[in-house]
Amino acid sequence: MKTIIEPFRIKSVEPIRMTTREQREEHLVAAGYNVFRLRADDVLIDLLTDSGTTAMSADQWAALQRGDESYAGSTSWYRFERAVRDIFGYAHVLPVHQGRAAERLLFGTLCRGGHVVPSNTHFDTTRANIEHAGAEAVDLVIDEGRIPSARHPFKGNMDTGKLARLIDQMGPHRIPLCMLTVTNNSGGGQPVSMANIKEVSALCRKHGIPFYLDACRFAENAWFIRTREEGYAGHSPIAIAREMFSHADGCTMSAKKDGMANIGGFLATNDDRLARTETELLILTEGYPTYGGMAGRDLEAIAEGLYEALDEDYLHYRITSTSYLGEHIAREGVPIVQPPGGHAIYIDAAAFLPQVPPIQLPGQSLVVELYREAGIRCVEIGTLMFGRVDPVTGAEHAAAMELVRLAIPRRVYTQSHVDYVVEAILNVWQRRATLRGYRILEQLPSLRHFTARLAPL
Ligand SMILES: Cc1ncc(COP(=O)(O)O)c(C=O)c1O
Repeated sequence: MKTIIEPFRIKSVEPIRMTTREQREEHLVAAGYNVFRLRADDVLIDLLTDSGTTAMSADQWAALQRGDESYAGSTSWYRFERAVRDIFGYAHVLPVHQGRAAERLLFGTLCRGGHVVPSNTHFDTTRANIEHAGAEAVDLVIDEGRIPSARHPFKGNMDTGKLARLIDQMGPHRIPLCMLTVTNNSGGGQPVSMANIKEVSALCRKHGIPFYLDACRFAENAWFIRTREEGYAGHSPIAIAREMFSHADGCTMSAKKDGMANIGGFLATNDDRLARTETELLILTEGYPTYGGMAGRDLEAIAEGLYEALDEDYLHYRITSTSYLGEHIAREGVPIVQPPGGHAIYIDAAAFLPQVPPIQLPGQSLVVELYREAGIRCVEIGTLMFGRVDPVTGAEHAAAMELVRLAIPRRVYTQSHVDYVVEAILNVWQRRATLRGYRILEQLPSLRHFTARLAPL
């Protein structure tokens, strides 16, 4: 069958509110043209993020009832720890309230001034946490990963030649750890192959550098390995995931993605000494080690959700539905990161709006227009998010790519919602020559895209 169907029935519905173009224009002005500042009520289809926006299953809702809220040693903790150990295989599991808390514990313990942390592409909170610890975050994705139109089955791979050169230049003592983000969110939601995970792992082991996976979308990455990498066709997603993690020394995880939960995460490691130091920090800022930053019921939802994310029917639907959106707009000429990613479609805003230079934020211009057109909220991943203001000259430096991400919440929207999004993008595509850039009126020095206020040029 060609028709994509959701592999679930809907048991509980949440109304969404229609708005007029005039209302949306007013909301944009009030929000300073920053869609993070909109009220969710004023959004029709929310593709801002796939993080924490998952619809939970009947089994997860049932598991919430089992939540044991004991301060120490709760039954829910043991269920959570068992599930994480079963899939990820690491000796120590530290529960945290979300992914960036795991990053803070890891980098806060391992990194200091003069250190360099390579990854394929660091996610924004990952980069910010590394820099906060005084170290430098370096992106070493393969060249194809930086060219939106380039087709490569594993565009999230790290360039191991560049990694080897970095290790030679810096010396292993200045590299406290190396990371790989699976899938590579900031690089277009592109997967990393098992072969690449193995190569990076081997290089790190040779030089005694700890190797960690940023595991947020590990199940989607496992599905891409199964469908695209030779030798994995008949393998179950869980077996592939276990193999991925077996090559690393630990991982950071935001359970708000492939944990199929609305909050939560963990840090996992095989290093006993590191785990002790991290646990001290965990108690200081997150909570006791058997709940971290979560309620017992959250631990239950994640313990269940991690397995649901690895379900073959679910993964097939998830990846097919995302690529349906990408292929239907690309067919009409809309430039997207090819091939479509796992959790999101990334439009190449620089190619969509060639008349808007990077420092005039073409991605933000498209984001604003999609909200104005159809109440769709998505996010700029370009110069607003990753650009830099030179502290001496005040000049703005553009990001490497100008992307707009349409992230698909898990199990939330149906195929007709996806068709609506396709129609809206194609409408804006028709009148793309009329769109103009934006300038920043107010910004914070770090993670400015969350709070900045802008004005149309
Ligand atoms: C690749 C990646 N790493 C880390 C994070 C941070 O996770 P959290 O938002 O739970 O702090 C995210 C969140 O979107 C992500 O996509």
